[in-house]
Amino acid sequence: MGQPVNVGVVGCGAISAQYFQTIDRLPQLRLVAVADLDLDRAREAVRPYAGVDVLGVAELMADPRVDVVLNLTVPAAHAEVALQAIAAGKDVYCEKPLAATTADAARVLEAAAAAHVRVGCAPDTVLGTGTQTARNAIDDGLIGSPIAATATMMTPGHERWHPNPDFYYVPGGGPLLDMGPYYISSLVTLLGPVASVIGAASRTRPKRTIGSGPRQGEEIPVLVDTHVTGVLVHASGALSTLVMSFDGVATKAPNIEVHGEKGSLVVPDPNHFDGTVLISGKDGWRELPESAGYVGAGRGVGLIDFATPADKELRAGGSLAFHVLDVMESLLAAAGSGTAVTVTSTCERPRPVALHSSVS
Ligand SMILES: NC(=O)c1ccc[n+]([C@@H]2O[C@H](COP(=O)([O-])OP(=O)(O)OC[C@H]3O[C@@H](n4cnc5c(N)ncnc54)[C@H](O)[C@@H]3O)[C@@H](O)[C@H]2O)c1
Repeated sequence: MGQPVNVGVVGCGAISAQYFQTIDRLPQLRLVAVADLDLDRAREAVRPYAGVDVLGVAELMADPRVDVVLNLTVPAAHAEVALQAIAAGKDVYCEKPLAATTADAARVLEAAAAAHVRVGCAPDTVLGTGTQTARNAIDDGLIGSPIAATATMMTPGHERWHPNPDFYYVPGGGPLLDMGPYYISSLVTLLGPVASVIGAASRTRPKRTIGSGPRQGEEIPVLVDTHVTGVLVHASGALSTLVMSFDGVATKAPNIEVHGEKGSLVVPDPNHFDGTVLISGKDGWRELPESAGYVGAGRGVGLIDFATPADKELRAGGSLAFHVLDVMESLLAAAGSGTAVTVTSTCERPRPVALHSSVS
């Protein structure tokens, strides 16, 4: 193995600890510096890790040690921070969504292409054994030609547990832009890119109440639709039915099911790396053994691909993330207009991940 990829993190909020743990245990990656608008938060976040510098954002971007800027800011800041990193000649890996709008995301990808740097984007959960084992089953023909899928995400809303949930209820947030990236990245991994969408959406409450932390009891405005449904027409002809909700109380529906001409699959939660894949058979459902994907992975495993030659497409890559964002934006447009919307972007199915018994 060559030199580790040096990572500089911008944004040290709720999700950052999971990334720090992953980077800490992967020999391909090294955390060298962190930054946040709130420097105290950044200091506190890296307290468990020795030798990590806490810098201002501009300082981190200019730091010659940093190979990849890991952008863990809120969605509304994703494009601005990514563009800063690209202007500094750094590769960048963003939390999802790639940007709050496809217009902003396009600016990021165009700037990156011009600067000859790479853009990666969460979710990398679909590189785990759950989605990858299901993909392997489809590619091996175990369910025959795929016809359809269902994807259901139902929660009463993240304000119950997140101490600063404002970003979930402004453009760039909502159940679709927040959780859709997991489900749609998984559906594209399983069934390929999406050609058109139809949709319908609703907004049940104008305000939400923060349920934890120092702001508990504070009301925040809701500026986005909070129950979004739709059908994704894949280029292959398969149809995925999607329900993404911050309004429902609970569900027993599987996160994802895929139906083929010969059989059906239950695919585990695409917000997790692992989980049980079930396949239908004449005697009922049976478990499929893990056959592909990173075993025991955590958030940040997608960064490993930055250690591969620059001409290899990142599996948690910018073109997939752009297409997923485009699908989500098209779905909201379809819901607003009541008509089908053509998805103008496309992408390759990302390269599969072979079974890795350990991520390193
Ligand atoms: N919280 C989760 O469970 C979770 C899970 C998966 C993905 N995500 C994604 O991770 C991202 C961050 O979420 P979070 O929950 O950690 O949010 P957060 O609000 O807890 O943290 C975001 C941090 O970014 C900093 N920040 C914002 N704009 C900045 C800028 N321009 N420059 C420097 N720092 C800036 C803020 O000060 C804050 O510390 C979001 O895109 C979210 O969708 C969150």
